[in-house]
Amino acid sequence: MKKKHTITLIPGDGIGPEVTDAAKKVIEAAGVDITWDIVEAGAKVMEEFSTPLPEYVLDSIKKNKIALKGPITTPVGSGFRSVNVALRQAFNLYANVRPIKTYEGIPTRYKDIDLIIVRENTEDLYAGIEHKIGDYAAESIKIITREASERIVDFAFQMAVKQSRKKVTAVHKANIMKYSDGLFLSCARKVAENYKDKEFEDMIVDAMSMKLVQTPEKYDVLVMPNLYGDILSDMAAGLVGGLGVAPGANIGKEISIFESIHGSAPDIAGKNIANPTAAILSGVMMLRYIGEFEAADRIDNAIRVVLKEGNKVTSDLGGSTGTKEFAEEVIKNL
Ligand code: NAI
Repeated sequence: MKKKHTITLIPGDGIGPEVTDAAKKVIEAAGVDITWDIVEAGAKVMEEFSTPLPEYVLDSIKKNKIALKGPITTPVGSGFRSVNVALRQAFNLYANVRPIKTYEGIPTRYKDIDLIIVRENTEDLYAGIEHKIGDYAAESIKIITREASERIVDFAFQMAVKQSRKKVTAVHKANIMKYSDGLFLSCARKVAENYKDKEFEDMIVDAMSMKLVQTPEKYDVLVMPNLYGDILSDMAAGLVGGLGVAPGANIGKEISIFESIHGSAPDIAGKNIANPTAAILSGVMMLRYIGEFEAADRIDNAIRVVLKEGNKVTSDLGGSTGTKEFAEEVIKNL
């Protein structure tokens, strides 16, 4: 018998409504029985509710436990704090999982990349503890705890076990930040002791950046504190075709929110040109998470076919197909 699911859908700002609508249509076409609880958040509701994250959004996620989310704009330098960070902290979505994979047909100079960036999602410089010191300085506090560090490294190893991956690399800057990153590294080494059959190494974040550009195919699961994960995952997305194809998930103990790495891309919003691949693949991650493996595989394969054929892709990949038309092409290939 077909399972029934109720899932929160947050269309978000900018290109969010376009790419999440594409993902929703593809998931529905794959035959998964989902009732979508569609709730608006972000800059667009700010005026009406005086907050970008109204209570009804939190209530819907609390009730349904799973959400598919479009990007939400965060003003730079002033204004409200990131809704994305607020959601991750509110629901303790401690693991941000960002698979980086080459798909045949995508214009990139790399092949055979298949790695996962596991980013700690609740602390580090994203704890939001900062203050001005007069008008001549400002201070941001970087928090690294033993509990969160051990939890995220264990999550990375568990993922390596489940997906039969060989190696876990812990990324840090413990040579300079001896206490904070030093604690992260010592936690990583301790957790690695429990997984003797998995290869473990650690690497300083600057060296890691160079190695990811030179030999990305050598890496498997990478685990790191929040800020490095944010930066390296955008960079790694660039190795495999850009932000338009890079999906992601925020995983907690009870609640998980699936969303692309990319932001609201105001430069291309409302033009039906955004690439919905990242949003659709975030949907694929969500389907696997809720046990809909067959539909997930069908969508993944359909995307593979469309990208490989290459004549119906969006402009970021060198084509001229619209967001909606790309989704229709994926549906045709299901
Ligand atoms: P962005 O990811 O929105 O855009 C960066 C560049 O990539 C732009 O040139 C954009 O056109 C392109 N791009 C992004 N997604 C694409 C897609 N699906 N197809 C084709 N091209 C795509 O990053 P930006 O401009 O730094 O941020 C814009 C807003 O999004 C900011 O307010 C930022 O805070 C927010 N943001 C939200 C996130 C979230 O909701 N999880 C994540 C990252 C940024």
